[in-house]
This record gives sequence, structure tokens and C-alpha cells, in this order.
Amino acid sequence: MKAKVDSIILAYLAGVKMPKQTKKETTAGQVSVNLDAEFRKSNIHEVLDKLDRELIGLKPVKTRINETAALLLVDRVRKQLELSAGAPSLHMCFTGNPGTGKTTVALRISEILHRLGYVREGHLVSVTRDDLVGQYIGHTAPKTKEVIKKAMGGVLFIDEAYYLYKPENERDYGAESIEILLQIMENNREDLVVILAGYKDRMNKFFNSNPGMRSRIAHHIDFPDYGVDELLAIANLMLAEQNYKFSADGEKVFREYIQLRMKLEHFANARSMRNALDRARLRQANRLFAGNKKSLTKIDLMTLEPDDILASRVFQEGKLDDN
Ligand SMILES: Nc1ncnc2c1ncn2[C@@H]1O[C@H](COP(=O)(O)OP(=O)(O)OP(=O)(O)O)[C@@H](O)[C@H]1O
Ligand SMILES: [Mg+2]
Repeated sequence: MKAKVDSIILAYLAGVKMPKQTKKETTAGQVSVNLDAEFRKSNIHEVLDKLDRELIGLKPVKTRINETAALLLVDRVRKQLELSAGAPSLHMCFTGNPGTGKTTVALRISEILHRLGYVREGHLVSVTRDDLVGQYIGHTAPKTKEVIKKAMGGVLFIDEAYYLYKPENERDYGAESIEILLQIMENNREDLVVILAGYKDRMNKFFNSNPGMRSRIAHHIDFPDYGVDELLAIANLMLAEQNYKFSADGEKVFREYIQLRMKLEHFANARSMRNALDRARLRQANRLFAGNKKSLTKIDLMTLEPDDILASRVFQEGKLDDN
């Protein structure tokens, strides 16, 4: 990953023609800086490596994050040479179906922004319409401002942001909240990054009705649905984090489970994997109890077998619930 980031940074450098040395006066009187040293000092590669390791797939998302990290690093180095350009706009929009990793990536991004000194604290405040919009006249502005105050120095993540705009309601207070957000997004860029998240089609509609919002968002990142192999890899990762694993047959059956589950209602990508594994653990515990074995090995306690998965209602034809 570091090599990848390095190459992106070098590409940037080629573009801005920046000399690559430690900050010093050269004989020609030119000041130069060491981008590599800045890269190491920020410890940013730790976060980027972790992101690469712990999140399956999401190639385009990871590339965009690397590019943003490179931009910020170059921006920091430019500042040292007094090449001021104003803070880059980092407000973002994440579109994708449920469970595709939007919240998880937003959390990582807040950490990256913090490490690169873009935001002071690097915390993430996650809200929905109800946290921002009041029910009565005069309630919305204080509610929105309170949330913004909490998020200052970090990232404000607005899930299903399009619900802020309800044109069908004549007296909707959402518009008031949007107005305040627009102002803050313009005037407080150095200290607050706003990320809007939700379904792609609804978000597009929202932007069409709110061009001011569209123009303030510099980065649009799309989170694709995961394929079967990716979902299986995610499931294995989730199990490993909790000291569980599939037996060889258990994994085969779980792959079948994924293929069936994907076609059913309310499928939510990685979130559905987490839910399915929680239920499989429950069945494993019951199986171990019912088995009445005198002593259980570590392996017994760790392993999910086909029966723990086959009992799911997904294997009974026609059942459309999340079991
Ligand atoms: N690529 C991935 N690799 C590993 N785990 C993942 C990945 N994507 C998501 N997860 C896990 O799946 C769960 C759901 O992800 P997350 O909450 O980030 O999705 P989301 O897009 O915000 O969903 P929603 O729209 O439902 O809020 C989390 O537990 C997360 O850790
Ligand atoms: Mg989410």
C-alpha cells in the first residue's frame, strides 16, 4: 500500500514540479522539502495499510482514499513552502446500498484526516434527519447548530441525507437545516468535513433539487455491492475477529447460503453476513449443548459446522425473512 501511495504522491509531484529534498535553502536559493519524511511523520501508511487489510474489496474506494491522502500530504508540504492555496474542499458523498461499508469507511477517513492535520480531533458524528430537524417552528436551527458544534474538528456523517429535503411537505423545516449546513460547509472547511450518505438514485434526485449542496461536494464515492467471493471473505474476516471459523464443509454451505440470501428481500451486503454469523453462533452453542459431550476442545468451540448454517430459513424455499 505504501508503495502505491508513494507512486500516487510521485505522480502529484510530477504535476506540481516540487523538488524532493529536505527543507533547506539550496545554492540557487530555492527552498525544498522532503515529502517522504512528511509521509513517515504522518504515520498515514499505518492507517492506509490497515484499511487495505481489514476491508475486503472496495478497490475504487481505496484508490480514492489514497489519492485524497496524497493530496493532503502535498498540501501540507506546499504550506511549508508558503504556497498557499486555501484548504481543499473535502466534503464527500458516499452512495451505495445498505451494508456496503459506508459508515466504516467514513470512520477510517476521519482518522486519516486527523493524522494529516486536516481536522483537529478526527471524531465522527453520525446523524440522520431527526437529529438535525425539529418538529416545530424555531426548533431546527438550534438542533442543527448543536450537531455542528459537536462535529467541529471532525467529520459530520449524515446518513440518508435526502430525507432532509421533503418538497411534498409545504412547511418542512429540513430546508432550514440545509441552509445552515451549506453555510458551514463553505465557511468552516478547515475544521469540518461533511459526508452525505445514502442510495445513489435518491441522492442524485436530492442534488438535482439542491444544486448548492451538489456544488459543495468535491468527492463522490460509489460503494458497489459485494460479490459472493467478497461476502465470503468478509464473513471469514468477521469470524476470525471473534475467534471462530468455518469447517471446510461449513464454508461450502455458507457459500450456498450467501447465494440464496442475496436473492431475498432486505439483503444488506456485509451487514447480512454479520447477522447470519450471529445466528450461526447461536445454533453452534445449542448444538454443543445438545451434543452432551463431556469435554469440548478449543476447535469444537471455534468451529461452525454445516448444521449451524443449514438450519437457516433461507434454505427453506419461499421464506423471505432474514433468518
Ligand atoms: N469491505 C468490508 N470488509 C470487511 N467488513 C466490512 C466491509 N464492508 C462492510 N463491512 C462490515 O459490515 C458491517 C456493515 O458495514 P457499514 O455499517 O459500514 O455499512 P453501511 O454502508 O454504512 O450500511 P448502512 O447503509 O446499512 O448504514 C460493518 O460491521 C462493517 O465492519
Ligand atoms: Mg451506515
